Amino acid sequence: MAYDLDQFVADCRAILKRDQSPRGREEVRSRLERLLANKDFVAATCGAEAPTGLKVLYEDKDLGFQVLAHINDKARKSPPHDHGASWAIYGQATKHTDMIEWERVDGGGPRAELKEVKRYRLNPGQAGIYQDGAIHSIDYPDGARFIRVTGTNLDKIDRVRFDLATGEVHQMTPQQAT
Ligand SMILES: [Fe+2]
Repeated sequence: MAYDLDQFVADCRAILKRDQSPRGREEVRSRLERLLANKDFVAATCGAEAPTGLKVLYEDKDLGFQVLAHINDKARKSPPHDHGASWAIYGQATKHTDMIEWERVDGGGPRAELKEVKRYRLNPGQAGIYQDGAIHSIDYPDGARFIRVTGTNLDKIDRVRFDLATGEVHQMTPQQAT
């Protein structure tokens, strides 16, 4: 039987119960790639018929992690942002996402200076991981859809985004989803 959402969630629970460190999260990342290889799951969750928007596929009341489907219609380019004290794993379902990872090099003043450290494309079936405090920006075309696993509900924690032109640091509001 194909690896499905229930199996993925059960694996996430088992893994994160014993290891919440970056190593445990890396195991979750590779399981997410396995889930994305399930064509029926991708078609049902992220296919052309799926309603657009953000869908919570699963939230763990115990451990706090969430599995979210980002059913995007229109292209979007995000500013650099973090995921606060959480981590996030992005698994591409359809089309692609161009990722840039950034490092803050100003020492934490009111005006941030960011340096690009890595740039790559996530293609369908590939998942990337962003550990707590990591800064990234994303850029995807129309119809790019992905499954995201976060360590907690990001709407409930402080997060920031950066204005590359001015260096200004802004608090993110809930639903500035990604
Ligand atoms: Fe993000």
